[in-house]
Amino acid sequence: MLEERRILITGGAGFIGSHLAEELVEHNNIVKLYDNFNDFYFNKEANIKSLKEKKNCEIIKGDILDLEALNSVLKDDIEIVFHIAAQPGVRVSVQAPFKTHSTNVTGTLNMLVAVQNSNVEKLINASSSSVYGPPKYLPIDENHPTDPVSPYGASKLAAEKYCKSFYRVYGINVCSLRFFTVYGPRQRPDMAIHIFTQKILRNEPPTIFGDGNQTRDFTFINDTVSGVIASAEAKNTAGEAFNLGKGERCSVNDLISLLIKTTGNAVKPIFTKEMKGDVSHTWADITKAKNILGYNPQISIEAGLKKFVDWYRSTPPNEIPKASP
Ligand SMILES: NC(=O)c1ccc[n+]([C@@H]2O[C@H](COP(=O)([O-])OP(=O)(O)OC[C@H]3O[C@@H](n4cnc5c(N)ncnc54)[C@H](O)[C@@H]3O)[C@@H](O)[C@H]2O)c1
Repeated sequence: MLEERRILITGGAGFIGSHLAEELVEHNNIVKLYDNFNDFYFNKEANIKSLKEKKNCEIIKGDILDLEALNSVLKDDIEIVFHIAAQPGVRVSVQAPFKTHSTNVTGTLNMLVAVQNSNVEKLINASSSSVYGPPKYLPIDENHPTDPVSPYGASKLAAEKYCKSFYRVYGINVCSLRFFTVYGPRQRPDMAIHIFTQKILRNEPPTIFGDGNQTRDFTFINDTVSGVIASAEAKNTAGEAFNLGKGERCSVNDLISLLIKTTGNAVKPIFTKEMKGDVSHTWADITKAKNILGYNPQISIEAGLKKFVDWYRSTPPNEIPKASP
């Protein structure tokens, strides 16, 4: 576990960034959160509620597209940067590819340039399973071809390529982590588990895109955070990419059944046509992360969904992330 290090987290007010920050702050690191609090969804303030009271956490409102501001934040002897900020989501990238591109590609390039101008020892880049595209085999290891379907996947792959190039050309110590569908308390409101849970708790039918036989490797947030922190501590990661999934998969139909069992609310889903940009299956081979990072995800989908539903039920509505209209 990292302790007493000086750390910057971009996107620290978001779902994954705020959980990462809580863990690092708890272990006496000096943490700066850097986030533009954009309106992709609402109630991000609630994500950082507990962090606001911590002496070893500073919250900075700033944009990763502002290179001068990044340079100035890093001047403050930051040792490790977790670059988590992005415009996530396949759907939004299909509707607004320029926004996705500028945040994810230009934003990451800015981060790399700022790190190059600084004394930062290590940069961790949040990437995505979307870089792979349609699976040629399962489970997917890091040598699987990268052939993204969505503009989002293309942007995350371009960002990874910039990271690798900055390692090769300038020796920047950077690695990329390919997250596989992360869920848990405070999950983004545009993600399936969040939408399904909200509907089922209201006794409304959830809508499934396609026949529901598509599968996803759902990863509980605590497991993702432990992998992210392990990647900062591990050696031999420069220029590398790692899958951070659970290493198991679940179909959307089974997910709905589990949510019905967990909530006790019996509802019948509605099926509609598949969404453009989605892939049929994701399933991570996590051998590389296990061997090099010591990553060892623990939370089963049943246990993780129970934690999510418990959080949803016990949280005041004004503290639950809410989709923009
Ligand atoms: N959640 C998942 O399942 C998942 C899966 C694969 C990859 N990822 C990646 O993980 C990272 C975090 O995802 P998340 O689900 O926590 O998303 P999120 O939207 O909750 O968090 C992203 C944060 O970045 C901030 N941000 C966006 N643009 C910014 C900018 N220009 N300057 C500064 N801050 C900005 C947002 O305000 C937000 O708080 C992203 O890089 C995403 O692509 C997430």
